[in-house]
Amino acid sequence: MARTLAPEILYSAEEIQSRVRELGRAITEQTPEDGEIAALIVLKGAFVFAADLLRAIDRRTRIGFLETHKDPEDPGATDFIFTHPFPIKGADLLIIEDILDTGITLTRLQERMASRRPARIRTAVLLDKVPRRQVETRVEYRGFEIPDRWVVGYGLDDGETYRNLPYIGYVEE
Ligand code: IMP
Ligand code: MG
Repeated sequence: MARTLAPEILYSAEEIQSRVRELGRAITEQTPEDGEIAALIVLKGAFVFAADLLRAIDRRTRIGFLETHKDPEDPGATDFIFTHPFPIKGADLLIIEDILDTGITLTRLQERMASRRPARIRTAVLLDKVPRRQVETRVEYRGFEIPDRWVVGYGLDDGETYRNLPYIGYVEE
């Protein structure tokens, strides 16, 4: 049956799965066997990526969430609402984000978390829109570099639709 929602495919479900498994292996290898990862999932876009990535990590994990709220009149002003049932101080944090665009949100978040003294902060992003970067942002695990076009699917939205698409595709802007 044809899908009624059919953006042009950028990465298929299979390509995403294989890349996410590679990222999971890298994170596993770079985490002590007796370590525990405190994962922070950035809502909403990263929920699908995080579900797959965390299941590809062979280490103990605790999982928390945060929501970002941007002020439309001031892109630099981002508010975070956290739900994490673990202390940040001393934690081996893994921030999981869907897409790195200007880098402003992620950099703000990393600064906020750093001020709470975790043992370390690592960041995993599925997509990186390199040409859009405005602030240099440290990312340890990156799925794919993509051009400057609006992408949807696998958690990413366009006006809250398409998040359930199993692949990543382009929509007209
Ligand atoms: P920035 O890096 O502070 O500009 O913000 C990045 C955020 O913008 C991401 O977490 C996404 O929520 C959103 N975003 C940026 N580009 C796209 C896209 O192509 N599709 C869907 N969401 C996007
Ligand atoms: Mg986001």
